[in-house]
Amino acid sequence: MKALILVGGYGTRLRPLTLTLPKPLVEFCNKPMILHQIEGLVKAGVGDIVLAVNYRPEIMISLLQKYEEEYNVKITFSVETEPLGTAGPLALAREILGKDDSPFFVLNSDIICEFPFEQLRDFHNAHGNEGTIVVTKVDEPSKYGVIVNHPDSTCIQRFVEKPVEFVSNKINAGIYIFNPTILDRIELKPTSIEKEIFPKMAADSQLHAFELDGFWMDVGQPKDFLTGTCLYLSNLADKQPNLLAKSDSGYVYGDVLIDPTAKIGKDCRIGPYVTIGPNVVIGDGVRLQRCVILEGARIKDFAWVKNSIVGWHSTLGRWTRLEGVSVLGDDVTVNEEIYVNGGCILPHKSISTNITEPQIIM
Ligand code: GDD
Ligand code: MG
Repeated sequence: MKALILVGGYGTRLRPLTLTLPKPLVEFCNKPMILHQIEGLVKAGVGDIVLAVNYRPEIMISLLQKYEEEYNVKITFSVETEPLGTAGPLALAREILGKDDSPFFVLNSDIICEFPFEQLRDFHNAHGNEGTIVVTKVDEPSKYGVIVNHPDSTCIQRFVEKPVEFVSNKINAGIYIFNPTILDRIELKPTSIEKEIFPKMAADSQLHAFELDGFWMDVGQPKDFLTGTCLYLSNLADKQPNLLAKSDSGYVYGDVLIDPTAKIGKDCRIGPYVTIGPNVVIGDGVRLQRCVILEGARIKDFAWVKNSIVGWHSTLGRWTRLEGVSVLGDDVTVNEEIYVNGGCILPHKSISTNITEPQIIM
């Protein structure tokens, strides 16, 4: 089977992390976001993956090429010279996606769930129409694409991208399967699949909704990245508890993921909902909860971190306190005893005064 992953866009909502790495390569639960998707696709028997790239293609290509061999899958980079939106990339990859009559998957690169590719394919083949969208229910539908079904049917009646007024709480989860005939609807130019293609397919009764079971999150912004981390770790606790840190270690509380190369000091309390990346060094008496510590970061003695993301190779001095969805970019230093509340701190900065209100430090 074939699949296309939309890996373009500037990822501005996940800054400062995306100033260093393109969004799909930022590690979510210690693995590049896009690897979660590649693994799911490969498990469902997909052998041909197109990565639709526009932003910083070189770094994307050099890091992802190695997965071809590792996962025994063909990865083709389809590079846009101008951003083609969420539909244009399908036209650009027409040769691969349309090479036979079999349907293909398309996914946004910033979503996390237990990818139900096999059930989705079976559902799609059973209704026989042109496309199927995976849908899920959320409390805040206005930041997503919203769908309304025909009464008592899986067939979609309306698709509205980011509605201003309440339409429904059933939203587009960013996972699709299409017959190659969809390519006849898409021209090779910047086009939004959500605004320009789905409404027409719905009007032609060619689009169905497949309801997702279990957790789902778009992790394309820090607050949601942290919520997604909690959901993912809770799910791991249910399904693969052996991957989580052992609670008999004396310092782990609840669902925590720690890379084996990380070093943890004495008398720490870590969890719940913490991920610690490779080569992280945690000092003594450190308290971490609901936070993400990326590769190579150093958290010195008695630091306290909650609801925050610490970027690669950053250093938190002794007695620092970080909270309120603070996000430190790559190689940030926070000096001893500093308090940061909701700070978004750009790469390579050094912080020596308290940040008491949410703000961007450039
Ligand atoms: N190749 C390419 N080119 N990819 C792009 C481009 C582009 O010009 N623009 C955006 N993308 C990719 C992004 O990297 C992401 O994987 C996907 O397209 C969706 O873009 P986002 O910027 O993340 O969109 P969103 O989160 O506001 O909304 C989308 O996702 C929601 C679910 O998370 C929409 O599909 C909504 O309908 C949906 O509910
Ligand atoms: Mg998104």
